[in-house]
Amino acid sequence: EKQVFKHFMLKEIHEQPGVVRDCLNAYIHDDWQVPEPSKTSKSPSVNSGDSPINLNLPNALCEGVEQVQILACGTSWHASLVGKYLLEQLADLPTTVQYASEARYSPIPLRPNTMTIGVTQSGETADTLAALAMEQQRRINAGAAFAPRLLGITNRPESSLGQMVPHLIDTRAGIEIGVAATKTFLAQLIAFYLLALDLAWRRQTLSIPRIQEIIKGLRQIPSQIELILGNHEQDIGELSHDFSDTQDFIFLGRGINFPIALEGALKLKEISYIHAEGYPAGEMKHGPIALLDDKVPVVAIAMPGMVYEKVISNAQEAKARDARLIGVTPKTSGESAEIFDDLLSVPEVDELLSPILTVIPLQLLAYHIAARRGLDVDQPRNLAKSVTVE
Ligand code: F6R
Repeated sequence: EKQVFKHFMLKEIHEQPGVVRDCLNAYIHDDWQVPEPSKTSKSPSVNSGDSPINLNLPNALCEGVEQVQILACGTSWHASLVGKYLLEQLADLPTTVQYASEARYSPIPLRPNTMTIGVTQSGETADTLAALAMEQQRRINAGAAFAPRLLGITNRPESSLGQMVPHLIDTRAGIEIGVAATKTFLAQLIAFYLLALDLAWRRQTLSIPRIQEIIKGLRQIPSQIELILGNHEQDIGELSHDFSDTQDFIFLGRGINFPIALEGALKLKEISYIHAEGYPAGEMKHGPIALLDDKVPVVAIAMPGMVYEKVISNAQEAKARDARLIGVTPKTSGESAEIFDDLLSVPEVDELLSPILTVIPLQLLAYHIAARRGLDVDQPRNLAKSVTVE
């Protein structure tokens, strides 16, 4: 039932505050108390007592893990790239993200104590299931030291993935009808934040205050998404008029927002059929800048933090080639944001949490451009919700 919304995709975009809330409520301990500092250590990073995150993952899966390998396709692969950033930066775990379709024919070198994570919204993607099965088998064949540690992330625990893996994070996003993944992507992101926090807790790689700060930030996300949805429904709808003849788009981001540039480009191309590319902003000068002129709009994700100035200067390079510049950035960015022709503002947050917000205006942009072109947003040509063939 689409209710007041014209398409399921728009309805699902608007369900995202609730999806995030449900996922956080399911897995963050409400009554979690900061544990007493350990008597044997003065280090603030030594955590005793219960983890604030309750994903129900057994020690056999998590203890002694030395690296993580993630297998996924499409939008789930983008969520996994954010996951890699979090697992590396928060839990100090080297992480490889492979397209499942590639992993099947170029498996990474076997190492002991590797956690393998399969990420899929449908839970039925043939490549992801086959890559996971292959990984499981070659680990069993390699002996006890290489024993598989398999974890699935999905919103469909009843799916083939759910039956195949011994451990699962159910993202609680429920079924998604629009072929373009929106709420299931956001829920996968939240699952990765929780997983990285849980592993950081177990591995004692983050201080308790930092963990508390991130949890507090996560709790504010649902109302911040509501704010973005309220602010931009109208203006992105109007902005989309300007792109009725546009043939190419470039999306730029860096660091933890690079995967969001990829995701913004994928959303746009799959439902509007406009050619779009996502790039790490610093790579633009190594090739794609040759594409730029006044006919190619550039969307730059510029969130305050480590790479903010860098993204602004990359955006300036695009502006110098007459590209129309669209900024995903907080209003509070001040003077440096004046280089943008259009602003898709998002609240200022901890850089670490920013991908959860920056993807929202990009989903809306893709939706409105496609809807204005009169396209079948929920059933784009040549695409299916579950890709059950290789
Ligand atoms: C994009 C999209 C696809 C899927 C991909 C993997 O909006 O939906 O790129 O992300 O086909 O699907 P799942 O996550 O079901 O494995």
